[in-house]
Amino acid sequence: MESKFIIGNKRTGSLIKIIFFLLICSRVSGQQTEIIIETSSNAMVLATNEKGELSTSYFGKKLANKTEYLKIALQYKQGQEYTGVAGAAYTSAGAKNLLEPAIIVSHADGNNSLDLRYVSHEIKVIDSNVQLLGVLLKDPVYDFNITLFYKSYFNDDIIEQWSSIQHNEKGNVTLYKYASANLFLKAGSFWLTQYHGEWAKEMQPEEARITHGIKTLDSKLGTRTNLFQPSVFMVSLNSPATENSGTVLYGALEYSGNFKTDLELDYQNNLRIISGINNYASPYTLKPGEAFTTPAFIHLLSNAGKGAASRKMHRWARNYVIPNGNGDRYTLLNNWESTYFDFNEDKLKELLKDARKLGVDLFLLDDGWFANKYPRNGDVSGLGDWEENKAKLPNGITSLVKEATENGVKFGIWVEPEMVNPKSELYEKHPDWVIKQPKREEHYFRNQLVLDLSNPKVQDFVFGVLDNILSKNEDLAYIKWDCNAVIYNAYSSYLKNQSHFYIEYMRGLNRVLEKIRAKYPHVPMMLCSGGGGRVDYAALRFFTEYWPSDNTDPLERIFMQWEYSYFYPAISSSNHVTDWGKQPIKYRTDVAMMGKLGFDIVVNKLSKEELQFCQEAIKTYNTVKGIIWHGDQYRLSNPRMSSVASMLYVNESKTSAVMFNYLVNNRYGEGSKQPILLSGLDRNAKYRIEEINLFPGTKSSIDPETVYSGDFLMTVGLNPVVNSSRNSVALKLMSVN
Ligand code: DGJ
Repeated sequence: MESKFIIGNKRTGSLIKIIFFLLICSRVSGQQTEIIIETSSNAMVLATNEKGELSTSYFGKKLANKTEYLKIALQYKQGQEYTGVAGAAYTSAGAKNLLEPAIIVSHADGNNSLDLRYVSHEIKVIDSNVQLLGVLLKDPVYDFNITLFYKSYFNDDIIEQWSSIQHNEKGNVTLYKYASANLFLKAGSFWLTQYHGEWAKEMQPEEARITHGIKTLDSKLGTRTNLFQPSVFMVSLNSPATENSGTVLYGALEYSGNFKTDLELDYQNNLRIISGINNYASPYTLKPGEAFTTPAFIHLLSNAGKGAASRKMHRWARNYVIPNGNGDRYTLLNNWESTYFDFNEDKLKELLKDARKLGVDLFLLDDGWFANKYPRNGDVSGLGDWEENKAKLPNGITSLVKEATENGVKFGIWVEPEMVNPKSELYEKHPDWVIKQPKREEHYFRNQLVLDLSNPKVQDFVFGVLDNILSKNEDLAYIKWDCNAVIYNAYSSYLKNQSHFYIEYMRGLNRVLEKIRAKYPHVPMMLCSGGGGRVDYAALRFFTEYWPSDNTDPLERIFMQWEYSYFYPAISSSNHVTDWGKQPIKYRTDVAMMGKLGFDIVVNKLSKEELQFCQEAIKTYNTVKGIIWHGDQYRLSNPRMSSVASMLYVNESKTSAVMFNYLVNNRYGEGSKQPILLSGLDRNAKYRIEEINLFPGTKSSIDPETVYSGDFLMTVGLNPVVNSSRNSVALKLMSVN
């Protein structure tokens, strides 16, 4: 059989060069088919055996000489492998396999076995950084095939993997499991970093050595599926990776619905990672000729620790996922915590003036502006009835948008279009549009139920909510899209096959979001879910930013934003200054600046100095936001390991940087006793350091005249002088000639 190679294209390689290289390599002959997916640092090698069974023969740091990948297997003496398919690129159930499968099917004739053999593969060069490989596998007995897709991003060391399942059997096939990806890793030991959470306690990390058997990360919540556990995780190889060293794999499923990731340490000490849509309550009936395409599982392997991994992921997300990922964002004033549901037009007009006074770009009107028969004056009623409440807003949203424009600020609005309060006209008119078990008692989450997005009429309704607001108000500049309930009593009165429910719900949501983005490609949208219950790389294809948590206590946010920052770039993190926490306004503002800055405070309750501080901080933010949003992020001092947390953002040319430092331990005498080592600067450049965001009347302890070399700052470090009287210190570094 011919040996075929896929070569990761070089950073500067032209299309012609790549194809030429591919042709040369494909002439090499041998016994097996070998496919090498190379990125700038790594290689994933897929190889067939004499039967055509496809395995992952290597996944790790790439070798200088490609011919040596064939020698790798000989270096492992792990005892007898009883099946020959433990390292399968996509493990099927019911034949030889003895481990966790990626796919389980029941054929049209009722047989439960699947055997997958390599047929062919195809490479598509998308651009100088991206290649798409498709590998076709077929069952030799049944007319059943799977194409495994690998989209590799050369510079980013990222691979997205998904699969497409199809058959031409003489009846329907049932898919009991249908993973996106099936990874196979070898190392001396594996260490899993996973996350769990709750409302106001999102992204709590845990790290532990992976022991034999299966560890499952999953969600069965249906919507806002990250509430208890997000799909993002890390696996360190051989020892726990640190910020700057160690081998670590980042993984995440690009899916906002139920997910399941199994990490199986097998009897030979290899790690098998199988990730995809959760098959919980979801056997899928696949018709002949129909293709079932899974969401993508994204992974990134770093040989230089977690910092390098997250910077690559951030860059990838800004370049390929997040709308306007390299662009601009609005600073804003939100009215949620200052008014809750208690406002009217006059009050809002005052708040518009406050937004102007503060100096932010946009005013964001939150929950409570709609519904008449059952006014939305609390969270118990009105959700679903998206007409302006006449008592609160007699002149409608349009007049507020106009008023905002006249005040020199933009206007944004909150919606939660997927949900309904039982106390609403929508529920009265369309009880069949609601997800609920027909014979069971209703069960509510925040007094609400979820609309059945598997129903095309509901999809049209949800699209209509957004379309109506946006088309009536051309100047509307921002949407906050909330999603507070999980799915209880999963049942659709529209669907014939209830086991398709969770999947069809997500397909419906996707259709709506696609339609919205097709019509309104540029409007910034915040993905909110009573906190971080929904952020993932599927949703971030539609949303410009996400709300990490309702918990805006800055001390808590330092920890949470730290964990989110491993996976998501600062530009996507909506951070608001609120009254949560005991810290002064400066501390709160500094923390909120580490992302996309907003305010949710009563401006007229600020003291003169506090107001002056906020106004100046916003002006300062406007001068450094480009570094924070588009630069590289370095986690310098971990709040879980030190009394001082420190985060650095460096622009691409390394000429300017912003460093945020916080006291996170209030015990006596705690502070920055030692210098903090900087990273990512130009060793040969010289930097002047200026303290920014000083509270009126306070003086900096940092001498702005001292010039430091990048070498000094990255070898000795800098002491930001953090202590109980300077518990938040923001510094700007500027290179000087
Ligand atoms: C939950 C969100 O997280 C809050 O910011 C706010 O928008 C409320 N919902 C409104 O009900």
